[in-house]
Amino acid sequence: MGPAAHGLAPAASSIGLVSTVARTPLILDVDTGIDDSLAILYACASPDAELVAVTCLSGNVAAADVQRNTRAVLELAGRADVEVALGREQPLLRPLDLAPDTHGPHGIGHAVLPEPAAPLSQRFAPALVAEEARRRPGEITLVTLGPLTNLAIAVLAEPALPKLLRRWVLMGGSYRVPGNTTPTTEWNIHCDPEAARICLAAWAAAVEQDATIPRPLALGLDVTETARMLPDHVVALARRAGSTPDDTLDPGREPGAPERRSVASNPIVRYVADALRFYMEFHAAYDGFYGAFVHDPLATAAALDPSLVRTRALAVDVDASGGVADGQTIADWRGLWHRPPNVDVAVEADAAEFLRRWVERVGGLAAARSDVAR
Ligand code: BDR
Ligand code: CA
Repeated sequence: MGPAAHGLAPAASSIGLVSTVARTPLILDVDTGIDDSLAILYACASPDAELVAVTCLSGNVAAADVQRNTRAVLELAGRADVEVALGREQPLLRPLDLAPDTHGPHGIGHAVLPEPAAPLSQRFAPALVAEEARRRPGEITLVTLGPLTNLAIAVLAEPALPKLLRRWVLMGGSYRVPGNTTPTTEWNIHCDPEAARICLAAWAAAVEQDATIPRPLALGLDVTETARMLPDHVVALARRAGSTPDDTLDPGREPGAPERRSVASNPIVRYVADALRFYMEFHAAYDGFYGAFVHDPLATAAALDPSLVRTRALAVDVDASGGVADGQTIADWRGLWHRPPNVDVAVEADAAEFLRRWVERVGGLAAARSDVAR
């Protein structure tokens, strides 16, 4: 992919010269969600990203909270100009399932953000995705960080979507590891398996017809659970941002002691500390470590730089039978189905490099915003 498909943005190099960075046009489809919000901050902080729009749907929390959180996080990052559109408010066929135990009652943990001022787009999220893809054929990378309901609606309405997009990157599935929602299912696929089946089938058919269309890149729990954000990363973020004190993450708090919100001087650091503290408390209770898997930011980083992951091309299907494996992503590791591969499944990720980049980039954004946002 040459620079013709990208915007070129000026970026300051470490020695103070201005260089140009090829920017990947991105649409993020989100269910914000603590780790979704950290992905949005990463996209805003990345000189190699052109954030075209953010589309929302119900998932971690209800759609009304998702769109509000998304607009509020973009405003925190100084990107109130980015269009935010709302899509489907419930799965295609299933009842709506939410995860306030994982993400907090409104989806951003212990954090509280001001009511966003920028209006919600008038466009329906699936329509926005199709319209932007038609407007810029072959340019836009779509990164889905929630259930696949919006994308299923978009590809049913615009079957050429796999060709019109540059690529579809998803955080979804668990391929060789246990699920995080049922023993075999990952949350995003679990919420709307019918939508996942529609999307995979549409891409498989398109790739079979036209070998120039890239297979979707899937980051499942196999790799996203290697990306563990720890309290030290928040300290490093605060230092990079020039925020004082370092942070107020409080793993040693006595049960029942009053909750302390972050008093960091930098508003982005404050937000990250308060949101992540909830996520870390959840992981301490369920996953045995005081830290957090940052699924969605890793998927976003890999969309911008696929060299962060090693992949294997596999035939993948989703069970939607209603039985014990309902919502499971099944990958044919041994080629027993004799079907052509339809997904590039990430099997290994450079989590340390990703976490270094996240701290460096979001810390840099926070430093630049320290005098602006309060
Ligand atoms: C996925 O589910 C959600 O809780 C997270 O935001 C992430 O997209 C991980 O299974
Ligand atoms: Ca998500």
